[in-house]
Amino acid sequence: MFSLDQQATDLHAAELRELLAGMRGAFARGENAMEYARRALGRNDNLAAATLIAYDLQSGAYVQHARSDPEGKRRWCNQIADLVEPHLPAGGSLMEVGCGEATTLAGVLEALPHRPASALGFDISWSRCAHGRAWLAHKSQQAELFVADLFHIPLADDSVDVVYTSHSLEPNGGREQAALRELLRVARRAVVLIEPIYELASPQARERMAHHGYVRELKASAQALGGAVTDYRLLDFYVNLLNPSGVVCIEKSRDAEPATPSWRCPLTHTALMRSPQALASPDTGLVYPVLDGIALLCRDHAVLASAFGRPVAP
Ligand SMILES: C[S@@+](CC[C@H](N)C(=O)[O-])C[C@H]1O[C@@H](n2cnc3c(N)ncnc32)[C@H](O)[C@@H]1O
Repeated sequence: MFSLDQQATDLHAAELRELLAGMRGAFARGENAMEYARRALGRNDNLAAATLIAYDLQSGAYVQHARSDPEGKRRWCNQIADLVEPHLPAGGSLMEVGCGEATTLAGVLEALPHRPASALGFDISWSRCAHGRAWLAHKSQQAELFVADLFHIPLADDSVDVVYTSHSLEPNGGREQAALRELLRVARRAVVLIEPIYELASPQARERMAHHGYVRELKASAQALGGAVTDYRLLDFYVNLLNPSGVVCIEKSRDAEPATPSWRCPLTHTALMRSPQALASPDTGLVYPVLDGIALLCRDHAVLASAFGRPVAP
């Protein structure tokens, strides 16, 4: 289940096999699997496939952490809820990008004074979405979780009121502008980034962030895209002093009508019709399957199946 972006398609089958086996081995030995991948591939940045493998291998860990430190998780989520709430209209929509196991999304929904009309979250890893679905049910919260790549979000322009992150841009160093362009495309009112802020970090923290290939210059990237940055600072509460979390709030519009998310093909941006088995584009014949109830909406999940949903004569 790979989301292969342009970088990853450059990997040959044998390289991919070695990467998978090597990263699984590193993880089993308790090592940092992404670090293993950077070394094995001779790169300073994180290949999208390596990010997916590393996070998929870790699936279940965030739920365990949320269970072991409920007070820390509550503080983290309350802080984010306070930052997104002012931008969320009554009857509006909220989405977490790179939601992992939805431990943050569940806590943010719990902390908001009014439930949004639609809550969504997506991650590049199916396994993490599966853990997230179970966690949301455990916390009696509702949100639509799906698999997608933040560089190609399967939603229409301006279709979600508030789009936020919680350390999901983090490993995508070097691709900051492409990420922000896509988040700004789907957001109607605001994009709220909760990410490590390299420029506000100590020299020691900067060194660590550079070593891990983390994002930089988020504020400058947003401004280069014409975004109005209305809040930019480190947060009061974060766990790792060497990975200092901050907010970059980019406002798009204050008075727009509440937005209703609508599905779009991540390859062609045509509308997708939803059924329990798949999301299909009547215009192109491209179909995105649903795996055990979780939609797979990365570009390379597309199947050309013009006959899908039509009677097929014997
Ligand atoms: C540090 S975790 C944070 C998870 C979650 N936001 C939270 O607060 O618990 C980063 C998450 O971002 C996801 N991610 C990284 N790059 C992504 C991409 N290109 N598209 C979608 N998700 C991505 C990872 O799979 C991982 O689950």
